[in-house]
Amino acid sequence: PRQIVIDTDPGQDDAVAILLALASPELEVLGITAVAGNVPLELTARNARVVCELAGRTDVPVFAGCDRPMGRTLVTAEHVHGTTGLDGADLPEPTMPLQDAHAVDWIVETVRARPEGAVTLCPLGPLTNIGTALTRAPDIAARLAGIVLMGGAYFEVGNITPAAEFNIYVDPEAADVVFRSGVPLTVMPLDVTHKALTTRARVDAIRALGTPVGDAVAGWTGFFERFDKEKYGSEGAPLHDPTVIAYLLRPDLFTGRHVNVEIETVSDLTRGMTVADWWGVTDRPRNATFVGDLDADGFYALLTERLGRL
Ligand code: BDR
Ligand code: CA
Repeated sequence: PRQIVIDTDPGQDDAVAILLALASPELEVLGITAVAGNVPLELTARNARVVCELAGRTDVPVFAGCDRPMGRTLVTAEHVHGTTGLDGADLPEPTMPLQDAHAVDWIVETVRARPEGAVTLCPLGPLTNIGTALTRAPDIAARLAGIVLMGGAYFEVGNITPAAEFNIYVDPEAADVVFRSGVPLTVMPLDVTHKALTTRARVDAIRALGTPVGDAVAGWTGFFERFDKEKYGSEGAPLHDPTVIAYLLRPDLFTGRHVNVEIETVSDLTRGMTVADWWGVTDRPRNATFVGDLDADGFYALLTERLGRL
């Protein structure tokens, strides 16, 4: 199986991504590293363990990482995810321990200890842990198989400011490190995640699994959807983060372009904007595959089938 590290700020959609990975035999989740983002670190580190316990996977080590962006004040998103970050399902407090090591130290050690090209990082939140690891240990860049992340936007810009997507906005300096790192990047921007909507029929199919996992996912998406339904009148909510895991399992469900992407870190107006050279109008080096489209029905069929295994 492909060895992955999930770096995350759960978040209902992060939680579904973690479940999808844990349900998939093609992937070996070496560990889950929590970062501050949707809610503060203490809660994301808790929520990651809630999800592992729900999946019956207390063997997966969970590490706490950075509690604030590399150079800025933390911005959170309780307005979308609720005060716990995982509102919508009633789940017990976790009893599995948090690991002692700091997430950044563990990421560096793990990538160094494994063969070159073995480990893929899957960031689902602000890029603080990954940017810090690459800054502290630049040698890990050449050892990684790649980074597949959720963040940014091209045409569908702006879910936290008119110019920026939340994960990149929260820590643009960390994102800048990642996008300049030379590691092969695959990016799931809002352009693709906004096509992965939780319609009624799709959530009904997950609820119909009739399992604790199916109930929790239906509960989470029910909560998560309120924001998009009330604010935009849309049919459902975008299930952003699971697209990262689905891409590892079924890249054929996605299409994108290998382009140059740079991060705006200076301007207050466009802080965290992912400036993607979609039309190749510069000669800047191509550093990322920016995904633009997915087969949404295929994605939900995969997700539902996999959740049914837990
Ligand atoms: C991203 O921000 C968070 O709210 C979600 O979990 C996702 O990772 C979408 O912009
Ligand atoms: Ca997230």
